[in-house]
Amino acid sequence: MRVLVFGAGGMLGQAVLAEFEKAHDAFGFRWPAVDGIDICDPGAVGEVMLGFAPDLVVNCAAYTDVDGAESHREEAWRVNAWGPWNVGSQIVRNGLENRVAVLHVSTDFVFDGTKGEPYTEYDAPNPVNVYGASKWAGEQALARTGVRHWIVRTQWLYGPNGRHFPGTILRLADQNKPLRVVDDQFGCPTSSVDLAAAMRRIVEECPFGVYHVNNDGETNWHEVARAVLELTGRDPDLVTAIPTDEYPTPATRPARSTLDRMSLRIQGQDRARPWRDALEEYLNTLSTNN
Ligand SMILES: NC(=O)c1ccc[n+]([C@@H]2O[C@H](COP(=O)([O-])OP(=O)(O)OC[C@H]3O[C@@H](n4cnc5c(N)ncnc54)[C@H](OP(=O)(O)O)[C@@H]3O)[C@@H](O)[C@H]2O)c1
Repeated sequence: MRVLVFGAGGMLGQAVLAEFEKAHDAFGFRWPAVDGIDICDPGAVGEVMLGFAPDLVVNCAAYTDVDGAESHREEAWRVNAWGPWNVGSQIVRNGLENRVAVLHVSTDFVFDGTKGEPYTEYDAPNPVNVYGASKWAGEQALARTGVRHWIVRTQWLYGPNGRHFPGTILRLADQNKPLRVVDDQFGCPTSSVDLAAAMRRIVEECPFGVYHVNNDGETNWHEVARAVLELTGRDPDLVTAIPTDEYPTPATRPARSTLDRMSLRIQGQDRARPWRDALEEYLNTLSTNN
């Protein structure tokens, strides 16, 4: 299968490209490097569809600055809503809809976090911030183009080559900065490498549709910070738990947006491992590489 990855320079995009390269003829565009393609540019995207002739387009490109989106609304909507619409509609416009399918990545932030238990693929989105609203609009826009697609929603990502929460905790700990972390926002940290493997399995084994993919379990940010310190031989008690009220951010976060992988489970395709095991493996690679 010929696979084209948009956003291949990002944290997830790099993991996805590496994963699909294991079994397919995969190529990635790294925005904004020289070979970058703006997913919002109709001419460039159309040209690439015709020139590269992929069977699958994986869209990992996104505007991912959750707080920045509150003051850069139009840029967030451009990339997160118009972008996937443009990708889908260029496939249809060029008559490629029977050949090219799209795997698009979305987020737990499409939910408001008030359900009181993990969200399945059948729960109704109701975003509480601009980023979440733009991502939800992107899911719907892609579907409206009529292109065949999978949507994979994930959460709390970390992994090699990216900026993420475990990395921030380690950096602050090494700088002896005070660590005050909220303990009233619940979700599940997810390895970009595990997610990429699940995305390949979904394409290879599962019908088109919406899928939730995370690591297994539920926790809060304070517990994740403690685990990061503990698993790297530091003192977990260096982290103080605080309520969200004491850590105001421009964007409101859902209080409990843990994803339930019901669609994978129903199909016998859920291979998620506990979040702490995946985190430990990632942190071990850091110590090996240093
Ligand atoms: N990180 C998380 O915790 C998390 C959680 C849930 C869902 N997700 C979703 O997972 C996906 C991947 O996120 P990530 O964490 O890998 O983010 P990331 O590292 O910020 O990667 C996104 C990539 O998209 C690129 N990009 C931005 N605008 C573009 C455009 N117009 N055309 C082409 N590329 C563009 C970015 O380039 P620049 O950096 O140069 O702008 C970046 O390389 C996104 O759909 C995100 O919404 C992430």
